[in-house]
Amino acid sequence: MTRLILICGLPGAGKSTLARRIVAGRPAVRLCPDEWMEDLRIDLFDEDTRDRLERRFWVHAQELLRLGQTVVLESGFWVRAERDEKRLAARALGTGVELHYLTAPVDELARRIAARAAAGEPGAVPISRELLDTYVPLFEAPTAEELALFDQPAEVNRAAGSPDR
Ligand SMILES: Nc1ncnc2c1ncn2[C@@H]1O[C@H](COP(=O)(O)OP(=O)(O)OP(=O)(O)O)[C@@H](O)[C@H]1O
Ligand SMILES: [Mg+2]
Repeated sequence: MTRLILICGLPGAGKSTLARRIVAGRPAVRLCPDEWMEDLRIDLFDEDTRDRLERRFWVHAQELLRLGQTVVLESGFWVRAERDEKRLAARALGTGVELHYLTAPVDELARRIAARAAAGEPGAVPISRELLDTYVPLFEAPTAEELALFDQPAEVNRAAGSPDR
């Protein structure tokens, strides 16, 4: 069944890692703003361009869903209203919709972001601890009640202990 797959979480939560694993295991298109911006030589902190790219990804995602193509979006979806919009649009298109919520303590997020930067992973935004701390209060974690509005995620072939839902 065609599905919209949303991956929600703060930087370093493991969204890109999970998204790569999902598309490795099933036919799905992954739209990752960080990788596109890096390939197009756009500053990863150019928030205006990021917003426009994400809006364009959303238009494109809906075109793909209409064609029966499963799509993975990994933009973080910090705000419930963004997740509601996407869930309702997917329902209107008659596709399934999954929400994968990834979380870890902020010290662990900072550790992972630093390790990722040191490893030079592609599309890795080098977020400082200070910037990460400003993000935390902006993040609206999905509640159990919200998660229940989505379809049960198909089994992802994940490493033991990986946080997912
Ligand atoms: N469950 C996990 N446990 C430990 N390390 C992890 C886990 N998931 C991902 N990582 C590692 O943490 C780093 C950050 O993961 P990833 O890039 O997937 O996060 P992200 O949520 O996509 O971050 P961003 O929002 O900045 O794109 C990577 O180096 C990744 O290998
Ligand atoms: Mg990522």
